[in-house]
Amino acid sequence: MGHKKLVKFQAIETYRNVLQHPENMPGNWGTVYGNDNPITLELACGKGEYSVGLGRVHANRNFLGVDIKGNRIYTGAKTALEENLTNVAYLRTHISHITKYFNAGEVEEIWIIFPDPFLKKESNRLTHPRYLYLYEQILKPGARINLKTDSKELYDFTLETIESQGCTIHENIADIYGKGLATGPLAIQTFYEKMHLADGRTIYFVSFSLPEGGVKLTGRFNKTAQSGTENEADNNE
Ligand SMILES: C[S@@+](CC[C@H](N)C(=O)[O-])C[C@H]1O[C@@H](n2cnc3c(N)ncnc32)[C@H](O)[C@@H]1O
Repeated sequence: MGHKKLVKFQAIETYRNVLQHPENMPGNWGTVYGNDNPITLELACGKGEYSVGLGRVHANRNFLGVDIKGNRIYTGAKTALEENLTNVAYLRTHISHITKYFNAGEVEEIWIIFPDPFLKKESNRLTHPRYLYLYEQILKPGARINLKTDSKELYDFTLETIESQGCTIHENIADIYGKGLATGPLAIQTFYEKMHLADGRTIYFVSFSLPEGGVKLTGRFNKTAQSGTENEADNNE
């Protein structure tokens, strides 16, 4: 590991707003935030700009950036500490383990911001039904899941998944900037978004909620869900 990365990993060990693979979290988030306000997740948060940006304007809501890469989480966590944003924290874990950390209904909204599109492996996409099934177990009924991406493949895949699962679409914007709709939370720009904009890429957004009848899983994902076992190796960064 390079020196800079090592320094960041050492720093987050000492940050009170970073939890790395913690135990006994369901129902205990009040000990992190000092209140029981509802929690919004920023999945694949990288440097965590959405948690900081939303945390600045919504003092009565709690925000949690989630990523496996500790050196990226470092940036958002440091900013939140410097700005005394006590409603912003970060969780270092693989997102396939997300149900370990919350009780049913403990999460009020999910943002998925420029996740890796995993062009060769659909099941790794954070809007694949296997992930929607996990989100369903921790979200309040009717809660929104918001995806912002530069990947047309991931956007199309998500729309197909939404349709086949019978999800409800609340907003669907095929070109946020082209339509002049980068306002409110959509105006927050992350590290990857800035890179994609510099490359002239189109940015897509879709906001949806899960079907009342439940997310349907097929094949091996259904078997995994039934047995409750997940075999996902974390990487170390
Ligand atoms: C392309 S980056 C985007 C980061 C940030 N949202 C941004 O827009 O700048 C994708 C991030 O997702 C994280 N990631 C992808 N799949 C993940 C998973 N299953 N669990 C945890 N983190 C994941 C990666 O570590 C990486 O930081």
